[in-house]
Amino acid sequence: MLVPGSASQSLAAALAAETGRPLATPEYRWFPDGEECASVPDLAASAESGGSNDGTPAETVVVASTPSNDALVELLQLQDACREAGVDRVTTVLPYMGYARQDSSFGPGEPVSARAVARAVSTGTDRVVLVNPHERGVTEYFDCETAVVDAAARLAAPLPDDLSEPVFLAPDASAESLAASARDAYGRGSTDFFEKERDRETGEVSVHPHDADVAGRDVIVVDDIVATGSTMSHAVAALHDRDCGRVFAACVHGVLAGNARVKLAAAGVESVFATDTIERGETAVSVAPALVDAL
Ligand code: R5P
Repeated sequence: MLVPGSASQSLAAALAAETGRPLATPEYRWFPDGEECASVPDLAASAESGGSNDGTPAETVVVASTPSNDALVELLQLQDACREAGVDRVTTVLPYMGYARQDSSFGPGEPVSARAVARAVSTGTDRVVLVNPHERGVTEYFDCETAVVDAAARLAAPLPDDLSEPVFLAPDASAESLAASARDAYGRGSTDFFEKERDRETGEVSVHPHDADVAGRDVIVVDDIVATGSTMSHAVAALHDRDCGRVFAACVHGVLAGNARVKLAAAGVESVFATDTIERGETAVSVAPALVDAL
C-alpha cells in the first residue's frame, strides 16, 4: 500500500499507476491549537476486513516530500500510523528532502540540520529512498537502509523536439552529471558547465562563464534545485550575454521560493520546468518511472 503525504499526492498516484499498488487516502484534521493529525483510515479498514493475519499490509510505502516543517511532521505521523497499525516493513520515499542543503554546521553552536531531520525520519521507517538529494553524503545521516534515485533523465521529456544544436549546461560543476543524464535522455546535444560562487554571508550568486560555445544554440540549464532562483537566473542572464538561442530552465526540485519566478522571467528564460518531487505549476514530468525499480 502506498501512503501519500499531502505534498506528494500526484506523485503517489503516479507511483500507484506504475506499480499497481493500492493507494491509501490519508485524512488530515487540525486541532484548535494548530496541531495537525494525519491519519490513514485505510490501514484500519484493511485490518478489519480480514485476509492474511489481521489484514494489515505487510509493507507500506510512505511517499512524502518535506518542503515545509508541517510536511515533515505529517510524514512522521504517517510513518507512526503505519507502525501503530502493525505494518511489518515501512519504506519511506522522500522525493524532496527539506533541510538537505544544511548538510554541515555553519559554525560554532549551529546544528547539522540535515542530520537532525534524517535521524527523526529514520525512527519511523526501515528504509528511505531519496531522489537527487543535494549531496549524496546526506544518506549517511540516516540510521536505516537508504537508496538514491537519479531522476535527471526525466527532465528531457518536456523539452520540445526542435531544439537547435542544444547545449545541456550545468550552472556549476556539481550539476554536470545531471546535465549529461538529461542530454543522454534527449538523445542529442552537448554538455557544458559554468563555475559558480556564492557569498556565504549574503547568499549572492555569481557565475563565471568559461568558454561555453552557445551562440545561436538553444540551451537547457539543468540543476538539482531551483530555490531562490539566484543560481538559475544568473546562468540564464550570462547565456543571453553570449547571444544564445532559447534558454530553458530544468530542475528536479522546483522549490521556487520568494521571487524566484520573477528573477527567472527577468533573466529571459523561455520556460521553467520541474518534476513532481514538489507539486508546482512548473511540474511537467513525474519521477515515478525512475522510482519504480527502487521499490
Ligand atoms: C547548489 O549547489 C544547488 O545545486 C543549486 O544550484 C542551488 O541550491 C540553487 O539555489 P538557488 O536557487 O537559491 O540559487
